[in-house]
Amino acid sequence: MQSLMIHSKIPIDPVILEILTRVFDVQQCSEPCDSGLIYDEEGLFYKSLERGHIQFSFSELWQSHSNKKYTNSKEPLAKALGIKRAGETHVWDLTCGSGKDSILILKFGAKVTAFERNPSVAALLLLAQTEFESKSFEVHYGQASKHLKLLAINPPDVFYYDPMYPEEGKKKTALPRKEMQVFRELVGRDEDIEDVFDWAKRSGVKRFVIKRGVKSPTLKSKPSSQFVGKTARYDLYVFP
Ligand SMILES: C[S@@+](CC[C@H](N)C(=O)[O-])C[C@H]1O[C@@H](n2cnc3c(N)ncnc32)[C@H](O)[C@@H]1O
Repeated sequence: MQSLMIHSKIPIDPVILEILTRVFDVQQCSEPCDSGLIYDEEGLFYKSLERGHIQFSFSELWQSHSNKKYTNSKEPLAKALGIKRAGETHVWDLTCGSGKDSILILKFGAKVTAFERNPSVAALLLLAQTEFESKSFEVHYGQASKHLKLLAINPPDVFYYDPMYPEEGKKKTALPRKEMQVFRELVGRDEDIEDVFDWAKRSGVKRFVIKRGVKSPTLKSKPSSQFVGKTARYDLYVFP
């Protein structure tokens, strides 16, 4: 089991501990730390020495879309994912990150199963999930390729993939600048992009969408089609 260090001067809420110990071997430390997962009266958050801290709320993300009306036939991401009517499409978000794209996809009317392999980010996402009541959204710790049982039981219609590229600065991400910097510190770069693509191709799922900067190069393979938005491009691969 993956260990997860939490720095806290006060006892951790047993409900939070129960959620995290289902997935992690939680270690507690009462020493202060410059950067890491911290629990205090504000709850659990990740603190970065120079770049602030992060904590997620899916309810707030959902609320942030409350006065927006999306027409799926006009949204590049919804079109790339093939989402038409609500309740018809199941998306696996392979790179949950802050959950912003996941919640947008949920807003388009899809069911979303999201994956995050960074333990600290995943811990924050698992807690955010508990205060957000939705039967159509769930988060899992780890890579999607390690959740083969889930894939066999309830395969998605499409994979959505938004990795950290070396040239990430050129892509408008879902994250504000400061949050992105904390992510960079925590997660670094995703060096296995072509491997994830190869796994997706062999997985049996027919549709794969990768988010890119508007002018960024494609993967080694040529996409079946491209959907260009103001700030990002979505390359769609339809597998035979
Ligand atoms: C660019 S961020 C994703 C941003 C996200 N779309 C959002 O709305 O915030 C990439 C995230 O995906 C995670 N990640 C990258 N490759 C992954 C993989 N193969 N499986 C699970 N998580 C992955 C990284 O740890 C990082 O948190």
